[in-house]
Amino acid sequence: MRSIFISQLIGLLPLISAFVHPGLLVNNADITRIKSKLAAQLDPWQSSWVKLTGLVYSQSTYTNNAVPGVYRDTANGAIANAQLLWHDAAAAFALGLRWKIEGDEQYAKAAAAILVAWGETLENFDIGDDEYLTAGLQGHELANAAELIRDYAPFAESEMQTFANMFSRTFLAKNLYFLNHKAPSEHNVRHFFANWELCNMASVMAFGVLTDNSTLFDFAVEYFKNGIGNGAINNCITDIVDEPGTGKKIGQGQESGRDQGHSGLDFQMLGVIAQQAWNQGVDLYSYNNSRILLGAEYYARYNLGNEVPFVPYTNGIVSYSEISSASRGAYRPTWELLYAHYAQIKGVDAPWTEQYKNYTVRSMGGFEGGAGSWGEGSGHYDGLGWGSLLYHRDTDDVSDISSTSTTSTTPVLPTSAASASASDLTPSPSSFIISTISTIAPNNESSIGHFSSDIVFTAATDSVILFPSDTIPMGDAHTTLMTSTARPSIKAHPQRTVYVYSCE
Ligand SMILES: *[C@@H]1O[C@H](CO)[C@@H](O)[C@H](O)[C@H]1NC(C)=O
Ligand SMILES: *[C@@H]1O[C@H](CO)[C@@H](O)[C@H](O)[C@H]1NC(C)=O
Ligand SMILES: *[C@@H]1O[C@H](CO)[C@@H](O)[C@H](O)[C@H]1NC(C)=O
Ligand SMILES: *[C@@H]1O[C@H](CO)[C@@H](O)[C@H](O)[C@H]1NC(C)=O
Repeated sequence: MRSIFISQLIGLLPLISAFVHPGLLVNNADITRIKSKLAAQLDPWQSSWVKLTGLVYSQSTYTNNAVPGVYRDTANGAIANAQLLWHDAAAAFALGLRWKIEGDEQYAKAAAAILVAWGETLENFDIGDDEYLTAGLQGHELANAAELIRDYAPFAESEMQTFANMFSRTFLAKNLYFLNHKAPSEHNVRHFFANWELCNMASVMAFGVLTDNSTLFDFAVEYFKNGIGNGAINNCITDIVDEPGTGKKIGQGQESGRDQGHSGLDFQMLGVIAQQAWNQGVDLYSYNNSRILLGAEYYARYNLGNEVPFVPYTNGIVSYSEISSASRGAYRPTWELLYAHYAQIKGVDAPWTEQYKNYTVRSMGGFEGGAGSWGEGSGHYDGLGWGSLLYHRDTDDVSDISSTSTTSTTPVLPTSAASASASDLTPSPSSFIISTISTIAPNNESSIGHFSSDIVFTAATDSVILFPSDTIPMGDAHTTLMTSTARPSIKAHPQRTVYVYSCE
């Protein structure tokens, strides 16, 4: 049975859809799920939480380290001090999580103090290309921290502006300069390995959501799909090859011939980008036959000790004729997210991703750690992590995805598509007209678009899931939807963004 979700169809909604908040790496459904797991003291949430709340970074007494200049390397006479920013970004995010989960203002206040201190102090970072790593890696982290405390009144009233002004001048300016290939080293737009662009895309997207700037958000989405550098997904996963033995499609990564540690960073950043977009109703996870997953499966298979095909790679600067075994088996906290999304939320086959999730969790001591908890050095602070806390789901959570209603604005839903009928839909679908699904989701992929004409569902087995308002983000416990096997008539509002998901 195929199900289709339609979002933002009903009612007289404004033409420009609002962003969902918090809606970056963490949304309200995540917070609700985490709180209930912690109330029941269940693992891996409980162990993750004990670790997080025990860190020096997670205390309301944490003191920021804001400085005017941040340097990753010692070039040009600078003294490397970027760990000051890494630590503070980790702290701002951890404190933001404590505010959302514990509801105690002291944590929001402490997170805000860090972000404002940097807002008032930071002027610039590295002279030289490394500035783009800081701009992307710490940019997306800081924007995520700010997103968590945007409902803390003192921050919302004025402090966020101080932070945002600094971010715009420094991080964002560099993100955009870099992604627009203005840096002198980018005379060859494929010069930089994928992770450099990915982290800058993540930063632009995160700041776009934080500041309700759809131009920035759309820029990042468009770059992911059609950018000319190595961060664009079709360049990031360079070749689709056949898995030995099964013949299934898997995707060779742009950094596969370089080393596995950096290749792993690509998946960490792809996860960030896709999750941030997903929480805004844009499905990049499934883009081009779930190209992120094809890449993750290739990476995980190889890094678990199995062979993979390798297509010779060159960007005109480096050339690789075989996959690199350097740092094979490297892990980063990102596999809980990829596994939860593909295997649990989408129900897609992701065997190597599942094994890599297990391997990562095992290697990290039972749960995926986060920035500040699992080691020092830049790589440990490239992303925020905490995947077991934020994304892990048990089987109950997965079945809840199709059966739970969480807010009063969400209609009461039938428990499964199979048992649903049009009369289960609230409001009644009588205000819609019919059109055809095959023109919208021809590849069984999620689709998103602005449809100016009606949507028609023709297949007799299609069922329909409606989102009644644009306040409900896609894809989580809020997959709390209305379903029907009765193929109700549906009319998309002209120019309204419509999300159509099909799944088996
Ligand atoms: C969005 O961000 C861009 C880049 O900083 C800026 O030029 C534009 O004015 C912003 N748009 C809004 C509506 O704030
Ligand atoms: C999907 O990937 C193939 C190559 O693997 C490419 O030819 C095609 O343009 C991509 N499609 C989209 C929509 O990006
Ligand atoms: C991964 O770990 C879970 C929990 O321990 C286990 O149920 C599952 O079978 C494991 N999956 C694989 C592929 O090893
Ligand atoms: C979509 O899914 C159906 C049912 O599994 C399958 O028969 C069909 O071939 C799929 N279409 C594409 C384009 O993959």
